[in-house]
Amino acid sequence: MNVIIVPNAEEMGKQAAQLIAAEMKKTSPFVLGLATGSTPLTLYKELIRLNKAGEIDFSKVSSFNLDEYVGLPGTHDQSYRYFMNQNLFDHVNIDKARTHVPDGMAKDPTAHCAAYEQMMREAGGVDYQVLGIGSNGHIGFNEPGSSLASRTRVVKLKESTIKDNSRFFAKIEDVPTQAITMGIGTILDSKHAVLVANGANKAEIVAAAIEGSVTAWVPASALQFHLAITWVITQDAATKLKGKY
Ligand code: PGA
Repeated sequence: MNVIIVPNAEEMGKQAAQLIAAEMKKTSPFVLGLATGSTPLTLYKELIRLNKAGEIDFSKVSSFNLDEYVGLPGTHDQSYRYFMNQNLFDHVNIDKARTHVPDGMAKDPTAHCAAYEQMMREAGGVDYQVLGIGSNGHIGFNEPGSSLASRTRVVKLKESTIKDNSRFFAKIEDVPTQAITMGIGTILDSKHAVLVANGANKAEIVAAAIEGSVTAWVPASALQFHLAITWVITQDAATKLKGKY
């Protein structure tokens, strides 16, 4: 497990983008695993810059997002499909037909989850997975108590997540209560992963995930089993770490 501590969110985005870009240059076709949330925004900005500068090419890239709210169509401005179009896909030379986000409107969500896993397998698995961490330790929408071997499925969101995400909705009642998420087992199958975290409100959970016991109650602690993960953390999110990195 590699931990990189950086001064600010811009630097976090740049470092994480460099890690991904280095692999993208070596591997074609390339499968990206993507995350939403406010933290990866500086990373996506940097990937767009590198693409426009001709340093990385998305023409042979396909992508699979971690999660999506149940009940929101991709046209809804709080859906994760919409987020990805706005913050990455519309600005790079990726073929949108090869970008995958779970379908929050799927008629048979369970079958959709199995099909999503199958598509990932057929694509050869995720080469580089981008992750954020929730203040309760979730990765994707794998809330505390999720099986560390879980696969893509429908989950109920915890109150803390609904509260954290209510800042993006007019009122808390508008936040969906269910989501489709890749499982922790699915995430652990990725060949490389980078977890970005910034802000003092993440300091406790970052330390628990990196230096605490592996437990389903801190889903991100399962990443201690990942063979090739780098944590890129801002100084303010790294204040509770005891080790020297
Ligand atoms: P954030 O969300 O980047 O908006 O803090 C992280 C997460 O919930 O995974």
